[in-house]
Amino acid sequence: MTRSALAVARPNIALIKYWGKRDRDRNLPATGSLSLTLSGMSTRTRVTFRDDLPQDHLVLDGQLASPEAHARVIRVLDQVRRLSGITTPAEVFSDNDFPTAAGLASSASGMAALAVAASRAAGLDLDLGTLAGLARMGSGSAPRSLLGGLVWLPRGEDPEGLDCVPQCLHPPEEVPWGLVMAWTGRGPKAVGSTDGMEHTRLSSPYYDAWLDQSRRDLEQALVHARALDLSALGPLVEANAFAMHACALAARPPLRYWNGTTLAVMDQVLVLRRSGLRGWMTIDAGPHVKVLCPREDAETWAEALARVPGVLEVRQEVPGPGVEAAP
Ligand code: DP6
Repeated sequence: MTRSALAVARPNIALIKYWGKRDRDRNLPATGSLSLTLSGMSTRTRVTFRDDLPQDHLVLDGQLASPEAHARVIRVLDQVRRLSGITTPAEVFSDNDFPTAAGLASSASGMAALAVAASRAAGLDLDLGTLAGLARMGSGSAPRSLLGGLVWLPRGEDPEGLDCVPQCLHPPEEVPWGLVMAWTGRGPKAVGSTDGMEHTRLSSPYYDAWLDQSRRDLEQALVHARALDLSALGPLVEANAFAMHACALAARPPLRYWNGTTLAVMDQVLVLRRSGLRGWMTIDAGPHVKVLCPREDAETWAEALARVPGVLEVRQEVPGPGVEAAP
């Protein structure tokens, strides 16, 4: 017996960050988050349950998956097998049309696509909350990629994570913003998000302060995001990213995701803003800088950031749709 399904998902970029877990086993976030799902990059994942396979087989961008990626995928597949009663191994082919694990949220799109493809291949028709739980077993930011546009993922209080379900605040066509991404380094990051946030939780003296601030940031950010008020949201987005990095920088030993070019891009953002251009930066667990701006200013931002010495590539993104399933 062979059952197969394909799903396509896009990365999302957090405007208010998830950094820290309240339950490691269930991969529940210690902070709620707000994100924008992108349109120009995607992950396509096909899952096939096959009787004739000796064990699960995972190919990521044409190569056998690393042990770490493998373990995450198996967690999601095992959960799908529990829900569906299927006991056969699965074959997973997943392709990103952008660099994997370089601070560009490939795990979010990959795990969202996997949750949908695997559950459909198993014949399940799951509600959003159950899909979110599945995607979260792969990556905490992945439930946000299930939906398009401006997305809120509450931290939730439920021990099982039943209230940690993403909500769309505005679909992509309602969000008049762009995101300009300046790539400042190649290759995978030195410390992945999972280890980075755990190290921060265990050793940063500012971790509790980060959790408090993050809760306040999210509360205000939700008001501004609902109103699509970029001038009010932008400064919060920037401050929240710097607070996350400050907390990580204070860990022992320090966790620093930035390189020299990251700092040069930050300088350029400040110079341009002083000149009157509207745009606010955010940085994830990697060296790249992303600028949130009015859509009509994205070209100007892209040209200016491309001129910063050391910037490898600049990409303009607009808000995109949630996960899409195919037979
Ligand atoms: C800095 O979702 O990659 O991008 O749940 O451990 O897989 P795990 O972490 P992951 O963390 C994302 C961290 C971030 C901020 C964010 O996307 O909210």
